[in-house]
Amino acid sequence: MKDGKPIRPGSVIGILGGGQLGRMTAMAARSYGYRVQVLDPDPACPARFVVDSCISAELHDARAAAGFARGCDVVTIDVEGLSPDVLHAVSAFAPLRPSESILRMIQDRAAQKSWLQSHGFPVAPFAPAADLDTLRQALATLAMPCFVKCARGGYDGRGQYIAQGADEAEAAWQAVGERPSIVESKLRLAHELSVLIARRPSGEQRIFPIALNHHAERVLRWSVLPAPQDVVSPSLAARIDQLAGDLAATLKLEGLLAVELFLTQQGELFINELAARPHNTFHATERACSSSQFEQHVRAVCDLPLADVSLLRPAAIVNLFGDLWLPEDVGNAPLDLALALTVPTLRLHLYEKRVPRPGRKMGHLSALGETSEQALRRVLSALQLLRAERAKTQETPTT
Ligand SMILES: Nc1ncnc2c1ncn2[C@@H]1O[C@H](COP(=O)(O)OP(=O)(O)OP(=O)(O)O)[C@@H](O)[C@H]1O
Ligand SMILES: [Mg+2]
Repeated sequence: MKDGKPIRPGSVIGILGGGQLGRMTAMAARSYGYRVQVLDPDPACPARFVVDSCISAELHDARAAAGFARGCDVVTIDVEGLSPDVLHAVSAFAPLRPSESILRMIQDRAAQKSWLQSHGFPVAPFAPAADLDTLRQALATLAMPCFVKCARGGYDGRGQYIAQGADEAEAAWQAVGERPSIVESKLRLAHELSVLIARRPSGEQRIFPIALNHHAERVLRWSVLPAPQDVVSPSLAARIDQLAGDLAATLKLEGLLAVELFLTQQGELFINELAARPHNTFHATERACSSSQFEQHVRAVCDLPLADVSLLRPAAIVNLFGDLWLPEDVGNAPLDLALALTVPTLRLHLYEKRVPRPGRKMGHLSALGETSEQALRRVLSALQLLRAERAKTQETPTT
């Protein structure tokens, strides 16, 4: 196993999963002169277009993963749903950053919540439910309504069910695919925030400014950096930074750790969940900070000195979902962009996903502002223009 010294530009970075996060990490790695390989089941995955090679294999194929790792100087991830066998096989042949143990803990929501609780980190009341009986008990104990979330494999709110009463246990169990789950009371949220920390093997760590995020139907719609001061006071920011620092140090993190946070209407702060990789709520770092999360990801896993994360200017992003594409827009030609692109400071980020589907993240827009509010207004107005164009196209008779 190659370990212990910086992995220099020119070496090979392997990424398990070639989605948009892998793609943007690969773009940053290329700019540093690294070579990049990804492993992904889809030969046309978003990273495909910016990497040296793309190995097509399932994310549970340990043999393929071992072969892949043999050709890499370091391996990192863009997805969580990797089988234990794959993580183990990779670790045998290349440094896996973040480590197998962190990834195994995080990929199971029940294990993750229990780990957080047992290490004294703030989490809202929850109960693991391994089967229908324990799910029924959990629903009878926790305050209603409750989120029931499958323990493994969910993202963008998939594999979740909101139960209004204990009598919905069976419906919830079916909705999560009859799989081990966790149950949490629905909190009365004032705001959703996130924090991103990078730590390199030598122990150096850096924390990006805190993001304010907006979800609808359990999916991230927009995010702005920094969270305005009327939402995150300097003392709350200090508390959140302390939390991130403690998490990274306790985990001996090598790479990135995003921490999704809930701020309740009663002023309590809870950790929703962790992600040990770049995160959708920090895409704005590309515009707002002196380094992007992707550049920092590369530096952290290669054990290079971490980049400065100072805020240069507020920036916001808004996600673009497949709903904005027309059925015939297969490939990359999306929407009528002309008007949206006239919004000051606007930038388009497309992931080159071949098949637009409603709810699928196809790209995002970013914009800068004198204030966070202005940056947010800009991306939202650009989105409005795209939507208006889309509605006009739908109205146009095709004959
Ligand atoms: N206990 C809760 N109380 C209130 N809202 C919640 C709760 N759990 C989840 N949500 C809402 O649903 C969103 C998605 O939840 P969660 O992060 O658990 O799902 P996910 O599938 O992992 O999503 P993602 O992939 O976007 O992180 C949260 O950001 C929040 O808006
Ligand atoms: Mg989440």
